[in-house]
Amino acid sequence: MDMGLKNKTALVTGSTKGIGKAIAIELAKEGVNVLINGRNYEEVERTVNEIKSEFPLTSPQNATADIVDKEQREALFKKYPNIDILVNNMGIYEIMQYEDVDDEVWERYFRTNVLAANGLSKFYLPKMLKNDFGRIIFIASEEAIMPSGQMPQYCMTKSMLLSLSKSLSILTKGTEVTVNTIMPGPTLSENVHQIIEGMYPNEDLTFSEKEKKFMTSNLPQSEIQRFIRPIEIGRLATFVCSPYASAFKGSPIRMDGGMVPTIF
Ligand SMILES: NC(=O)c1ccc[n+]([C@@H]2O[C@H](COP(=O)([O-])OP(=O)(O)OC[C@H]3O[C@@H](n4cnc5c(N)ncnc54)[C@H](OP(=O)(O)O)[C@@H]3O)[C@@H](O)[C@H]2O)c1
Repeated sequence: MDMGLKNKTALVTGSTKGIGKAIAIELAKEGVNVLINGRNYEEVERTVNEIKSEFPLTSPQNATADIVDKEQREALFKKYPNIDILVNNMGIYEIMQYEDVDDEVWERYFRTNVLAANGLSKFYLPKMLKNDFGRIIFIASEEAIMPSGQMPQYCMTKSMLLSLSKSLSILTKGTEVTVNTIMPGPTLSENVHQIIEGMYPNEDLTFSEKEKKFMTSNLPQSEIQRFIRPIEIGRLATFVCSPYASAFKGSPIRMDGGMVPTIF
């Protein structure tokens, strides 16, 4: 089925790896011209070339920038003043004890996971409203609604994105612009893959056996008992970007493999 996204332009933040890259690839598959973002120019260029050779009818572009830095965000706006789709995917995370989270850490997480996405949204949303079409997606986490206690600084920022998403959605009233949040559960990004691959060094296990063992002992509440593949989030995000998803307005959309045990 044609998703009605041909020739749209999408900025996907943090798209040289992991979930962001998968979202960019799935959008390109639908004929979207993707702006690839990361801080490393060569990494971005490599991803652009990869997508260009796989989807030659699209025009992926290099959008290298540290989007936490206001000046670099502004340079990005000058280079790409108009987009149809903004996927605020970039986010940092690490396991930390509450006692170790000092003010500097709280502020860094707020600046990185919330203010960067807000800065981009603030610039692009009015243009989308003027065009009467646009999509903004925030990538949060199941930890936004079910903090595990293992990374309080991260969970706080992801809960904030849900609120920001709804506040922006209210501004889209009566238009074909939507703002939504996707909450992935544990996902097999390259980093996670490497961590699992390095586990159980004294046992002769395949990756899939290691993954199963990890899930049983560390994430028993997951109903799929495997990591979500980035492509699954990519396909969901592509649907949310499509005109078929116009009725999703300010929605928190869960794709968490059953991690959250409640109905809502
Ligand atoms: N993986 C999971 O299990 C999981 C689960 C739930 C939610 N999420 C969320 O999904 C999102 C993506 O996670 P991921 O695991 O796929 O990430 P990842 O594999 O660590 O990839 C991060 C991407 O962001 C880029 N990046 C980092 N800092 C940046 C900055 N300041 N400016 C621009 N680009 C930057 C990285 O490239 P450079 O380092 O070269 O800049 C890379 O392309 C995050 O918001 C995360 O919280 C992840």
